[in-house]
Amino acid sequence: MSGDGSQYVGQQILGAGLVIAIDGPSGAGKSTIARLSAAELGTNFLDTGAMYRALTWYALRQGADLNDPSALAMLAYSIPMQVEAFAHAPRILIEGRDVTRLLRGEEVNRAVSQVSAVPGVREQMIARQRQIIQAAKASGRGIVAEGRDITTVVAPDADVKILLTASPQVREQRRARQQGAGSDSVAARDFADSQVNNFTTPAPGVELLDSSDLDEQETMEAVVAIVGRAFQARQG
Ligand code: DC
Repeated sequence: MSGDGSQYVGQQILGAGLVIAIDGPSGAGKSTIARLSAAELGTNFLDTGAMYRALTWYALRQGADLNDPSALAMLAYSIPMQVEAFAHAPRILIEGRDVTRLLRGEEVNRAVSQVSAVPGVREQMIARQRQIIQAAKASGRGIVAEGRDITTVVAPDADVKILLTASPQVREQRRARQQGAGSDSVAARDFADSQVNNFTTPAPGVELLDSSDLDEQETMEAVVAIVGRAFQARQG
């Protein structure tokens, strides 16, 4: 349960179609925090990392050559992927099959940075992400979208932009708890991903939220408070 404050923000923004963009490095807790915040605010939720993971899963399954950027870009264009952006049950379907639970395995972890670094792949994924965000905005429901380049590239005109960080030690601990120690090095993936997006320093208009000393509930409430303040400022 949450405090009255965050429920109140949810009521205030009802029907406003707010777009809330959250970026941050691996292990900062983005997915969990974005999903909890979306559920609290009553908006949709988009995990863009899961889209890159789904494409990677599909490429591996198709036996695609991960060193061939045009083959990967072609797959990104043609992948029969459906993204369901509901905060209470977010799902990704490929050819009608729910693959959500298959996306955090060892093989996908290892390959996803390489796949998501291909410019042609990003172009296709970003176009799909913008469609999902636009639809949520137009419906009045709004959306919390999280990833690495949401505040800067996918939705730089979002109503609220947050960079969610935590110290490297805390992020390493959280990943280890999630996946079993050593299965996915935060430092290695940070390095690979930072070759593509600069998500460690906030761009102008982006609010920095350091969750090192906060638990999930506190971090979610901090996000909701930022949304509340931004909404009030917008109302003048
Ligand atoms: O957040 P995650 O660990 O599920 O992300 C999986 C990979 O996708 C990660 O290596 C970085 C990449 N990614 C990206 O390049 N751009 C995004 N908007 C989201 C994720």
